[in-house]
Amino acid sequence: MAMKLEKVVPFGRSLDEYIKMFALSETDLQKSILGVGDGPASFNAQATKMGRNVTSIDPIYQFEKKEIRTRFNEVVDNIIEQIQASPNDWVWSYHKSPDDLRNNRIKAIEAFISDYDRGKQEDRYQIGELPKLKFQDNRYELVLCSHFLFLYSEHYDYQFHYDSILEMLRVGKEVRIFPLLTLMLERSPYCDRIVRELSDRGYTVKIIKVEYELQKGGNEMLAIVNPSFHNKLK
Ligand SMILES: C[S@@+](CC[C@H](N)C(=O)[O-])C[C@H]1O[C@@H](n2cnc3c(N)ncnc32)[C@H](O)[C@@H]1O
Repeated sequence: MAMKLEKVVPFGRSLDEYIKMFALSETDLQKSILGVGDGPASFNAQATKMGRNVTSIDPIYQFEKKEIRTRFNEVVDNIIEQIQASPNDWVWSYHKSPDDLRNNRIKAIEAFISDYDRGKQEDRYQIGELPKLKFQDNRYELVLCSHFLFLYSEHYDYQFHYDSILEMLRVGKEVRIFPLLTLMLERSPYCDRIVRELSDRGYTVKIIKVEYELQKGGNEMLAIVNPSFHNKLK
């Protein structure tokens, strides 16, 4: 067994991890980016410091930073213990060990927390959740969703995934999702059907191998481009 979680957990990744998970080029980083379900990732905080244009949306932004940190503290030990109990399920190339992973997750949430109040004032952290987003059509050039869709396939059904992805495609010209694996380290049972149905609707859909791998076999992302913008996907 790889990992069992009752609920979606607020575990956050760094800008560097986002760059690797989504194969973000310098051109990508210059786009207006929406991170859906960014939670306590430091992606927004770090990217903003570098002058990038990132908005994050997540239901946990209804909470104060103290509450977000408390929730993280409640789950972190259990997650690291589950990882330690299944050492062969993980690749220790980026994070060097379970302890290193834990430290990197703490670094990410601390950077997020330092930026949280300012980011809220600047509307960079907005409360919202799939499958409906409040933004106008084509508001963003790139929409990213890390460690929510597909990963939690046991918690959310096919229809939720399909509606959520179409919604992200409504607000963005291109959508990227990582990883394609579930918590049980299997390809999400919804992935192939999503690829087929979106291709049938005229979207350009590609599964792309990326540099980042922590869950064994979890080194692929799904990239989908709106038919009217498909020239943007290389
Ligand atoms: C495992 S965390 C991933 C955080 C970040 N994307 C990363 O990879 O570092 C999953 C996030 O999904 C958020 N989430 C839960 N339900 C959601 C929904 N319906 N729509 C968008 N995000 C949701 C959670 O609040 C949580 O912050």
